[in-house]
Amino acid sequence: MMRAVIAATASMLAVTAVLAQSDVYEQRTALMKAQGQCVYRDMSKMMKGESPYDQAKVNECFAKLKETVPKIESVFPASSKAPNPKSDYIILDKFWDSKADVDARVAKLKKDVDEGASKATSEAGFKAAYPAIQQGCSGCHNEYRKKKG
Ligand code: HEC
Repeated sequence: MMRAVIAATASMLAVTAVLAQSDVYEQRTALMKAQGQCVYRDMSKMMKGESPYDQAKVNECFAKLKETVPKIESVFPASSKAPNPKSDYIILDKFWDSKADVDARVAKLKKDVDEGASKATSEAGFKAAYPAIQQGCSGCHNEYRKKKG
């Protein structure tokens, strides 16, 4: 009887762990894609003059980044070292051994987003603020991420 209870409990725990795991990957992809929509699409197009400057969109993007950037590290728990099945990318192993560098990148990006949000109240201000943010994102990708396949 006791054994059966233990076995049942163990298998429930295993199921919970698998669910929690796939949630982390889902959250990571959702968070990165939400940031990507702003930095690599909407804002990037305005920066290049491919779409007209849109202050409301810029404000929306900074509000989004202020929400997502502080959460970046929470979507990379040590339990999620296996390649993310939801992503087109894989994290290089050195990511997990470089916590100090990752912390520093996220802290700098957070600061650039906060400063950028107060600068980007005009097109000129936005254009001055955008490059640091784009570099903060891509700097981490270039160092720690590669395309699958
Ligand atoms: C601390 C490092 C780091 C920072 C900073 C970072 N990213 Fe990422 N990003 C990653 C890694 C690692 C992946 C691969 C994701 C995975 O394996 O789940 C990724 C994946 C992505 C993807 C692809 C999503 C997918 O899986 O299909 C996009 C888009 C993206 N990031 C956008 C951004 C933007 C925009 C920023 C800046 C606001 C940013 N990221 C900041 C590390 C980072």
